Amino acid sequence: MNVNVEKIEKDIFIFLEKAQEELSIIQNEDLLNQSKSHFLGKENLLQLILTDIKKYDADTKKIIGQLVNNAKSKIELLIAERKKEIRDQFKNEKTKNTFRDLTLPGKNPIPGSHHPLSIVEDKIIDIMTDMGYSIAMGPQIEDDFHNFDALNFPKDHPARDMQDTFFLEKNKLLRTHTSSVQVRTMLSNNPPIRICAPGPVFRADNFDMTHSPNFRQAEVLHIDKGINISHLKGTLKEFVGRLFDKELNIKMRPSFFPFTEPSVEVDVECPFCNMGCRVCKNSKWIEILGAGMVDPNVLENCGIDPSEWQGFAFGVGIDRVAMLLYEIDDMRLLYENDIRFLSQF
Ligand code: DAH
Repeated sequence: MNVNVEKIEKDIFIFLEKAQEELSIIQNEDLLNQSKSHFLGKENLLQLILTDIKKYDADTKKIIGQLVNNAKSKIELLIAERKKEIRDQFKNEKTKNTFRDLTLPGKNPIPGSHHPLSIVEDKIIDIMTDMGYSIAMGPQIEDDFHNFDALNFPKDHPARDMQDTFFLEKNKLLRTHTSSVQVRTMLSNNPPIRICAPGPVFRADNFDMTHSPNFRQAEVLHIDKGINISHLKGTLKEFVGRLFDKELNIKMRPSFFPFTEPSVEVDVECPFCNMGCRVCKNSKWIEILGAGMVDPNVLENCGIDPSEWQGFAFGVGIDRVAMLLYEIDDMRLLYENDIRFLSQF
């Protein structure tokens, strides 16, 4: 059948112009939705053209099909554009007519705060870096050598017991102290060495007021020529004074650790009283950390000649310091993530 494609094109053009004109005056969304079926529904021009399309040859069908589809898309676009215009207009009018009380207070964002363990750890890092120490890190999954052997632990030392240490498969374990970072640092660096190694450690303990299977320590190691116990004492005094923001006396009590000789337990004058209190259990002194001169066996195990180099080390429990500083009497509070507790810091 012969068909005048140009005429159809012209009809569609006029139809679209009319549609645009009609749509531009519609003022609400309901009417706009109805107009969709009006322009694209059964009775309209585009649908009528399609009813006749079967009668044409293949090429003509294709041309006319395309003309109709383009026109349908155009109508849909016009409707969508008009819808947006109506919505914008509505929004503008609404805000134009609302009263804004500029004296109303704003919404206060709730500020976050640092975890007490992070505050103490950051403070330790600041103190030690100010004194010229670098920060060292080591893996939390360790092996027997770095956690025990190289640190001079005898094979039958109780710390190697399953009750104290979390053993993993294939000679791996969760490090029980950050002293393992001493070993890694000495093995991969030449002395002089000055490092502070903060981080999490693990012990097979149950949770109670003073224990947790996972807590944090900071290890300090200083290796140089001619280092003796007075360097340790001077460094500890400065460290403790800055940690508690107060000049405090310290005392060293003989103790034992496999990796230090001599080993000491360090007590600090109670920062909270001068006559005895709950925190120092009326003794005026608080046990704060373990320390000592690095055992020559440890230096040797890590490839350092003890006749040439000496050193001291100390290890401090970050949780313990946080509990002292903030008078927290239950260690579990540090791990429960209770926002009522954490927002106090
Ligand atoms: N590693 C010890 C512990 O976990 C703490 C310690 C004591 C570290 C004495 C030291 C030290 O460097 O000299 O209990």
